[in-house]
Amino acid sequence: MQVIKPRDVHIIVLGNEKGGTGKSTTAMHLTVSIQKQGFKVGVLDLDTRQRSLTRYLENREAYTVAHGLNWTIPEHLVATPSDLPDMGEREREEAELLDSLIDRLEEDNDFLVIDCPGGRTHFAQLAHAMANTLLTPMNDSFVDLDLLARVDPETYAIDRLSLYAESVWDSRKQRGASGLPSTDWVVIRNRISTTHSKNRQRMDAALKSLQKRIAFRYVSGLSDRVIYRELFPKGLTLVDLKDVDDKPKLTLSHVAARYELRKLLDQLSLPGWHD
Ligand SMILES: Nc1ncnc2c1ncn2[C@@H]1O[C@H](COP(=O)(O)OP(=O)(O)OP(=O)(O)O)[C@@H](O)[C@H]1O
Ligand SMILES: [Mg+2]
Repeated sequence: MQVIKPRDVHIIVLGNEKGGTGKSTTAMHLTVSIQKQGFKVGVLDLDTRQRSLTRYLENREAYTVAHGLNWTIPEHLVATPSDLPDMGEREREEAELLDSLIDRLEEDNDFLVIDCPGGRTHFAQLAHAMANTLLTPMNDSFVDLDLLARVDPETYAIDRLSLYAESVWDSRKQRGASGLPSTDWVVIRNRISTTHSKNRQRMDAALKSLQKRIAFRYVSGLSDRVIYRELFPKGLTLVDLKDVDDKPKLTLSHVAARYELRKLLDQLSLPGWHD
C-alpha cells in the first residue's frame, strides 16, 4: 500500500464513480467561491478525456480577456495517464506524476480542488486517498445511490454497501495507515427537483440512514437549475453574477441557487472559512 504524504494544502476531491452527477460543475463553483474568500486555489483535472473543468476554466480565461477583467485564473493542471505496457510500472509512473503535480500546486495555494472522472481510474483512486475533504455529488436517484449501497426493494432500507463506498473505505484505510487524519466525506444530492416527490423523500431517508453506516456527512445540496448549464460557455459561476454586466436577468431561482451554494460551502467546514 502506497504511503500518502502529509500536505500543507487542503485537498478537496470531487469524486463519484458514476458519471454526470455534477462533479465538474460543483468543482468550478467551489473553486471560484473559495477564491472570492481571499484564498489561493489550484486545480487538478483528472478527467483526461473530457477535461470539463479545464474547459470551464479556459472559458473563464477567455471571458476575462474579452471583458478586460483582472480576475485571477487559478493555476490548473491536467494529469495525463501513463502509457507504459506493464501495469505495475504504469501505476508507479502515475503515482509519481500525481505527486509531482500536487507538489507544484501546493507551493503557492491554500486549497487544491481535484476533479475526478465519472469512473474508476488509478489517478482517481490515488486522489481519494489524498483527500482532506471528499465531496460526492449524486443525482437524486436510486440508480446513483446503488453505487453507495443496495436498498431493499420493498422497504427501501439499506441492505449492504456497494462499490464506491467500499473503495472510499479502502482509501480511508490507506490514509490511516499513513498516519493521516480521516477524510471528511461529504455527500450531497445535486439537481434536486424543485417539486416535491416521493422519490425525493425516500432518497433523503436512505441517505440519512446510510450516513451513520459509512461515516459520511450528508448535507444539503443543489437544486436542478438551468443557470448551471448556461454559465459554462462564459466560464462564469453563480458567485460572479453580481460582478458582470452581461448577466442574465436575476430571478428568484438565481438568488435561491446562490443561497444553496453558500450554505453548502458553510457546511463543508473548510479550514479558515468564515460565514
Ligand atoms: N444543479 C444543477 N442543475 C442543472 N444542471 C446541472 C446541475 N449540476 C450540473 N448540471 C449539468 O449536468 C451535467 C453534468 O454535470 P457535470 O459535467 O458537472 O457532471 P460530472 O459529474 O462532472 O460528469 P462526468 O462524470 O461526466 O465528469 C452538465 O450538463 C451540467 O451543466
Ligand atoms: Mg466531470
